[in-house]
Amino acid sequence: MPLLPTDKMKSFILGTGSALPVRILTNAELETMVETSDEWISTRTGIKSRHISGAGEETSKLAGRAAAKALEMAGLTPLDLDLILVGTISSEMSMPSCACLVQKDLGAKNAFAYDLNAACCGFLYGLDMADSYLCRRPEMKIMLIGAETLSSRVDWQDRNTCVLFGDGAGACVVSGAAPGSGMLASKLHADGNLYKLLYMDSARGMNPALANARNQGAFIKMSGRDVFKYAVRTMAGSVKEVLAQTGIKKDEIKMIIPHQANRRIINSLLEHLAIPAEKAYVNMTKYGNTSAASIPIALDEANRKGLLEPGDILLLCAFGGGFTWGAAVIRW
Ligand code: UT7
Repeated sequence: MPLLPTDKMKSFILGTGSALPVRILTNAELETMVETSDEWISTRTGIKSRHISGAGEETSKLAGRAAAKALEMAGLTPLDLDLILVGTISSEMSMPSCACLVQKDLGAKNAFAYDLNAACCGFLYGLDMADSYLCRRPEMKIMLIGAETLSSRVDWQDRNTCVLFGDGAGACVVSGAAPGSGMLASKLHADGNLYKLLYMDSARGMNPALANARNQGAFIKMSGRDVFKYAVRTMAGSVKEVLAQTGIKKDEIKMIIPHQANRRIINSLLEHLAIPAEKAYVNMTKYGNTSAASIPIALDEANRKGLLEPGDILLLCAFGGGFTWGAAVIRW
């Protein structure tokens, strides 16, 4: 008899953690840097402040701090880890991977380690990947991290982008569980044809053609309005797919943790899905858009606030550069 999706999916989150840089950059400060206003940023995005990394707060360092907290919650040590997987587009080095730097710092010498690039969908892609490993080897202990320092990748003279992003990391320890608990369904998508609506070229040093051209390639470029429309439509589609896959009804959802890019995107998404706004966990007000880190930071916050109880149904969904998008359903 063929296995149902819920029989195959087994990833269970044993612990969560997050880490944020010390420095907080408010909308009021941004008013002194570019032609913008707290009023514009707040009403158009819902963002009031974001954390910006400094020395000793590189992507791998934030990732390592988040991972250490997740390990502590899971009651595990670094030596228990079999794999470290980091979703990031802003590691401080191109090689080695952020995951290898985390492995070194944690002393997780039994773990293999690598990064994956799915932009703001990095955590969801990573969860799906972790799930695939766990279908084969449910005893594995996987450290899944989303970590970014996009403050190093935005043009601080471009008001269209620099007000949106923030730095931070979120982590989960994932391992196998009995069928019917943990991750119940996941559906991922990509469409590279649309990449020019949201992209970041290689660093100037890597491309001689860009070497003398300020802001010509190394920073995030975005057609915000287009991205907004695709984000709502595609995330809504993915959510419907995972709900249909599991047979879970909207009123069974305890909490939806969407990628934290824009409060208006989340509102439109929920309206489209006819899910009450109060079911969404929203924290971009404090952190801005932390790309691959946004879902695991929110998950850790909700978890540490005691908002999640065993058996609760959680819905995660994200959209990002690539384009990439998707959704997952978890039984906590
Ligand atoms: O993480 C995944 C990918 N990212 C996203 O999901 C982001 C998706 N997009 C968005 O969140 C929104 O499109 C933005 C927040 C980026 C922009 O909001 P919008 O309501 O779509 O504004 P807009 O781009 O249509 O711009 C409206 C006006 C423009 O002026 P004009 O042409 O109407 O005179 C912009 O130049 O707002 C202007 N503007 C600003 N004004 C003050 C753009 N950025 C700013 C700013 N401060 N920071």
